Amino acid sequence: MTVDGSAVTGELVSSLRAALGEGAVLVEPSDMAGYSVDWRGLYQGRPLAVVRPSTVAQVAKVVRLCAEAGAPVVPQGGNTSMVGGATPSGTGTAVVLSLERLRQVRAVDPVEMTMTVEAGLTLRQAQAAAEAAGLLLPLSISSEGSAQIGGVLATNAGGNNTLRFGNARDLVLGLEVVLADGGVWDGLRHLHKDNTGYCLRQLFVGSEGTLGIITAAVLRLQPGITGRAAAFCALPSVEAALALLSRLRLRAPAGLHAFEYMSGASMGLVLRHIEGTQLPVSPADHYVLIDLAACADAGGLEPMLEGVLGEALEADEILDAALSRSEAQRLAFWHLREEHSEAQKRAGASIKNDVSVPVSQVPVLLRDAAAACEAAAPGLRVAPFGHLGDGNIHLNLIQPEGADPAAFLVQADALMQVVNEVVRGLGGSFSAEHGVGRLKTGLMEEWRGGVELRLMRGIKAALDPANRFNPGVIFPAP
Ligand code: MLT
Ligand code: ZN
Repeated sequence: MTVDGSAVTGELVSSLRAALGEGAVLVEPSDMAGYSVDWRGLYQGRPLAVVRPSTVAQVAKVVRLCAEAGAPVVPQGGNTSMVGGATPSGTGTAVVLSLERLRQVRAVDPVEMTMTVEAGLTLRQAQAAAEAAGLLLPLSISSEGSAQIGGVLATNAGGNNTLRFGNARDLVLGLEVVLADGGVWDGLRHLHKDNTGYCLRQLFVGSEGTLGIITAAVLRLQPGITGRAAAFCALPSVEAALALLSRLRLRAPAGLHAFEYMSGASMGLVLRHIEGTQLPVSPADHYVLIDLAACADAGGLEPMLEGVLGEALEADEILDAALSRSEAQRLAFWHLREEHSEAQKRAGASIKNDVSVPVSQVPVLLRDAAAACEAAAPGLRVAPFGHLGDGNIHLNLIQPEGADPAAFLVQADALMQVVNEVVRGLGGSFSAEHGVGRLKTGLMEEWRGGVELRLMRGIKAALDPANRFNPGVIFPAP
């Protein structure tokens, strides 16, 4: 049975209301508006209903009811996807399942150094809960105030601390997942060693809501931070930035928590579009933000950073540097970094290329991709920034000043292809951390076709045979 007649849809809405209560089921377009469009405004969906269950049992019930009615289910967290990964189609048949009401911190265990949290907690709330126990949840992304744990895990978020602690999947010890048949897999184990067949939890991490709905997770924590040192540097080249990265890695292997790159073009957009921002160094074509942290002997961090920057200055690797002298100043440096997406949004239509290459190849990527894009679309603004220490650059392209946004976006596929040709030549990936979502399904055949896509389809068919979970995401249309 499929949701194609109003009798079926009406029946489904009534049973959802009976199961969850009136207030947990939204059907008015004005109430559903915020859940129907993605953060970038690229996809306007039309859900049948938006449901907001409060317990795992309710999530399971929703999945069962939708399965019986043949309705697709689109899990949604903070709705911060860059690739339309949590937006329903425009057919009016899908139920958006918001996890926002599942927001308990079930446990923080300082002996095991783990926390058990529900999917709807924002990443920032989870970080705060760890911090309250003197611990660190070592995952940080620009959208952490809105992004929720479930979405962060379903997309295997990366972000600013991947360099030191890995991606989201590296922090996951256990998961609780609602499956396509409405069953619940309680895999909330706290084990650091557990070789008992396939590692199922890692299948769900990064599956973008297509295999199951993550409702809770056991996350690995680190000792809390006792001191930090940060610097904002102006540099002559990307090669110089890599030389500085090597210096820091040798001198502070455990302390280097972030090494973020910002091009002069992208920084210029922040200064222009984000009120109150000010550059702490002289203007340049390249900037990096260095963040060091320690959980013991933090006193040595600042002199060490000062020493490394002094050496780098002498070696002409940096042009200018500002050291943070207070936590407020460190946060001001981060504000300059974290506002890049917002500034680019305000600058007009943008084409996001979330790509990765081997770290040593980033200078080639930036040079060759910029030249190829400028040749393909004269006047466009190439505004790269990102996680240089991971080789992950957001090689974003902004519409020419004053041009028609729609006319620019018509070139999106062609310009992504231009960038991806360079990325492919360097042995990189077309999706480093944002995922495939709806936006990049068209690239899957070309990049992952053959064995990989066949295996992925097999996994999808085994876990969600009726293709009810987040259809249209990851897989290209058959
Ligand atoms: C970030 O690192 O701030 C986001 O992942 C990037 C983006 O807007 O492309
Ligand atoms: Zn990023």
